Amino acid sequence: MMIKIDISKIFDTVSLEQVCALAPKAQKGLDMLHNKSGAGKEFLGWLHLPSSITPQLKEIRDTASELRSLCDIVIVIGIGGSYLGTKAIVEALNNSFDWLQERERRKNPALIYAGHHLGEDYFFELANLLKGKRFGIINISKSGTTTEPAVAFRILKKQLEKVIGQKKAKQHIVAITDKARGALRKLADKEGYKTFIIPDDVGGRFSIFSPVGLLPIAVAGIDIRMLVKGAITMEKATGQNIPFSENISTIYAVARNALYAKGKKIEILANFHPKLHYIGEWWKQLYGESEGKENKGIFPASVDFTTDLHSMGQWIQEGERSVFETVISVENTDFKTYVPFDKANLDGLNFLAGKRVDEVNKMAELGTQLAHVDGGVPNIKISIPKINANYLGQLLYFFEKACGISGYMLDVNPFDQPGVEAYKKNMFALLNKPGYEKESKAIREKI
Ligand code: PA5
Repeated sequence: MMIKIDISKIFDTVSLEQVCALAPKAQKGLDMLHNKSGAGKEFLGWLHLPSSITPQLKEIRDTASELRSLCDIVIVIGIGGSYLGTKAIVEALNNSFDWLQERERRKNPALIYAGHHLGEDYFFELANLLKGKRFGIINISKSGTTTEPAVAFRILKKQLEKVIGQKKAKQHIVAITDKARGALRKLADKEGYKTFIIPDDVGGRFSIFSPVGLLPIAVAGIDIRMLVKGAITMEKATGQNIPFSENISTIYAVARNALYAKGKKIEILANFHPKLHYIGEWWKQLYGESEGKENKGIFPASVDFTTDLHSMGQWIQEGERSVFETVISVENTDFKTYVPFDKANLDGLNFLAGKRVDEVNKMAELGTQLAHVDGGVPNIKISIPKINANYLGQLLYFFEKACGISGYMLDVNPFDQPGVEAYKKNMFALLNKPGYEKESKAIREKI
């Protein structure tokens, strides 16, 4: 089975002719990806990553087993593309409450994230949590020079070495970085850490099917072979030779660009399962960093329903009509929970007695779709048969492929992120980083 797309609920806003008129542009985008003829062509390694990573899976799984046997907690250090894919998959597939269980009752080490912000209280609380615990670190940075993960690694490495000694600490640390460049590569080589390479031609937000995503996901006890299998299925299903009407990545790219042309400047990715919250976070990074440039690009937002129907739902139903919605719809749940019958029926809920919670959820989903479409919010539906590694592998690759095509349709380079440098330059100037003397002087005159 495959994930599916339904764009029938966008036609109040755009016509079928307008959508079809964009098909050649999408095909051109697809060709540019496969022929490596567009902007950012040196970063297209992700295109065939699922089908080429298989020989590395054993080494990744062996390293994960080693960490699993040594650690009760594994800290995944990374920011942006270096951690969001992992968090999206692990939150979606692991038991929602596993981390609350005592270690003896848990199947897997807990993954904790660091290096994705500079909140000092978080560091302090994490250091306290780790006291007396067996922990390890997966340190991920392609450039090897990003400040947030570097600060986190320095702090956590010190703590680990203090507890188990420098020699033993080396066995608890894995670095994932560039093959030759960057401070992390230098440090890892000098200390003798186990390392994995992020290929030169794979950018952070497209790196989920490389060791960046696969190692920590395997540590969390998830079958990375199934994840990669799903991605390979989608790699084939969205190939260059697949006709437009059958290629769900080109269809999605066309639908969102047709809506954008009609003034729908904001895309809201919605889910009806809390486990999918971080899929939304990963998706926002993928599309935001890839398309938001040259004063162009759909603004990617995300909501968790039904939770956010009681907050953002009002805005979506009746606010400015500049939004469209893309819903990830899950066909089947893993488990069943029924609403019980109650004789007194004081809460008036007996009309739901005997129904599954998922049946109620599905009616909420359908009701929301109809209400939002009636309210002028076009709707794209992406259906997945269930939340498992195979379908999530399909889903993430589908989004990556559509993102590349969509970026080319927008006429931007989807594989760079020049805008991210602006805050870094100011931060380094304010912190007097060596080499930033001129910028330091200039910025101080401004404030
Ligand atoms: O997608 C990207 O390229 C970025 O989000 C990076 O992943 C992020 O900035 C982290 O970079 P690095 O892995 O070099 O530390």
